[in-house]
Amino acid sequence: MRIAINSYSNPMKAHLSDLPNGKNTYHSRPKKALLLGLTLFIATVTLHLLADSHSKLHSSVNKVSNSTSIRRMKDCDLFRGRWLPYQNAPYYTNETCHLIIDQQNCRKFGRPDTQFLKWRWKPDRCELPLFNAYHFLELVRGKSMAFVGDSVGRNQMDSLLCLLTRVEYPVDVSHKYTSDSKFKRWFYPNYKFTVANFWAPHLVKSMSAFAKGSSFNSLMNLYLDQVEETWSAQIADFDYVIISAGHWFFRPLMFYDNGKVVGCHRCFDKNIRDLTHYYGYKKAFKTTFSTLQNLPKYQGITFLRTFSPGHFENGSWDKGGNCPRAMPFTGREVSLADDYLEFYLIQMEEFRKAEIEGKKKGLKFIMIDTTEAMLLRPDGHPNYYGHNQDNNRTIADCVHWCLPGPIDTWNELLLQMLKMEAQKSFNKKLQKYTLW
Ligand SMILES: *[C@@H]1O[C@H](CO)[C@@H](O)[C@H](O)[C@H]1NC(C)=O
Ligand SMILES: *[C@@H]1O[C@H](CO)[C@@H](O)[C@H](O)[C@H]1NC(C)=O
Ligand SMILES: *[C@@H]1O[C@H](CO)[C@@H](O)[C@H](O)[C@H]1NC(C)=O
Ligand SMILES: *[C@@H]1O[C@H](CO)[C@@H](O)[C@H](O)[C@H]1NC(C)=O
Repeated sequence: MRIAINSYSNPMKAHLSDLPNGKNTYHSRPKKALLLGLTLFIATVTLHLLADSHSKLHSSVNKVSNSTSIRRMKDCDLFRGRWLPYQNAPYYTNETCHLIIDQQNCRKFGRPDTQFLKWRWKPDRCELPLFNAYHFLELVRGKSMAFVGDSVGRNQMDSLLCLLTRVEYPVDVSHKYTSDSKFKRWFYPNYKFTVANFWAPHLVKSMSAFAKGSSFNSLMNLYLDQVEETWSAQIADFDYVIISAGHWFFRPLMFYDNGKVVGCHRCFDKNIRDLTHYYGYKKAFKTTFSTLQNLPKYQGITFLRTFSPGHFENGSWDKGGNCPRAMPFTGREVSLADDYLEFYLIQMEEFRKAEIEGKKKGLKFIMIDTTEAMLLRPDGHPNYYGHNQDNNRTIADCVHWCLPGPIDTWNELLLQMLKMEAQKSFNKKLQKYTLW
């Protein structure tokens, strides 16, 4: 059962090992909330959803790109809503996009159901426009984008690569920068657009507490006052930086600050104070944002992609837990609770502070708040259908997301944020002229 869990000594298994160990917290806690109302779910949802014809959604979605509607978007919270059936999905398949890594290629590895692909996120008071790959690439022409975080961040990048294949396949230029397969860099020649991921599962500097490498659940040292240099050394050149972190904070952690142990999370050492994982999580974001704010030359827009919930049921990840559901939840059966809620609130708080601080320095911080939408998608994970062929598929992946799948929504949201940014800076310029 220790398969592939050592991310440090076995790069081949990087993605599997990227399965963080935080999952054991899910089942114990929201199980009640999760299952509550599940029976109601089938009855209510079906009626509810069928009432909304997808053709209506489709036709209005296509119109949303003029500035009137963008202005209306501003009054709409894109992140509160529900999933509606949508038959024209997905944007791509495992046949049309050959950039899906095995760990997330659920169809290739035998996932039998396809209904999980047939939903679109519908914000409560507006439409989320469809992803338009041309529009996206136009907006990022000549620019660069980095995903900094764990393998769920990489998961979003891979979704973006697939969404863009409709227009162009990127060139893999990773080898020019590193031989570590956890770091990828892609280049779109026609648009001079670069996209990269920087693997830093805790954002701050972290390493195994043991010289001989780590196992899945072994103690790690976190240096809470320093970010991981693998990303900070290169990030100043990027125009868009998407920060995320989550599940790696559930494992046992030793916290260092200014070179000294200040506490831990689940280290079970009676001489060291257990400060909980919340302490580490908060500090990691604080340090990350302040690093970005103080990097000479960094002019990028920083996005925070909020915590992405896992959905283990019937046991923790290492006790046979899995995620076999084939349908989304409605908002009524689940709510964020306990660790997940606390993580989310910590992110909100640190983001708000960063946003205010950033304003003083002319740096923009934007939130992509995907947590609520993803909480409703227990059906979107690889479960047993994403692993390397060489392992026995005894551990379910209920943390990452199938490609294609609901994670594609993150990039619909990202595009929308980019459009709104472009509109804002256009208006600003316009204002300058009209005032004159
Ligand atoms: C913009 O969209 C709105 C609503 O979708 C529509 O009423 C309006 O006519 C459109 N304006 C232009 C210039 O296309
Ligand atoms: C795509 O998935 C199908 C099953 O839906 C599978 O038969 C096929 O081999 C896969 N193709 C690729 C290129 O992964
Ligand atoms: C959980 O386990 C029980 C008993 O083993 C089984 O009947 C049930 O179907 C399982 N539920 C899920 C969601 O796997
Ligand atoms: C898979 O499991 C079987 C039986 O449990 C075992 O004999 C085999 O060696 C395992 N294969 C791998 C690749 O771990």
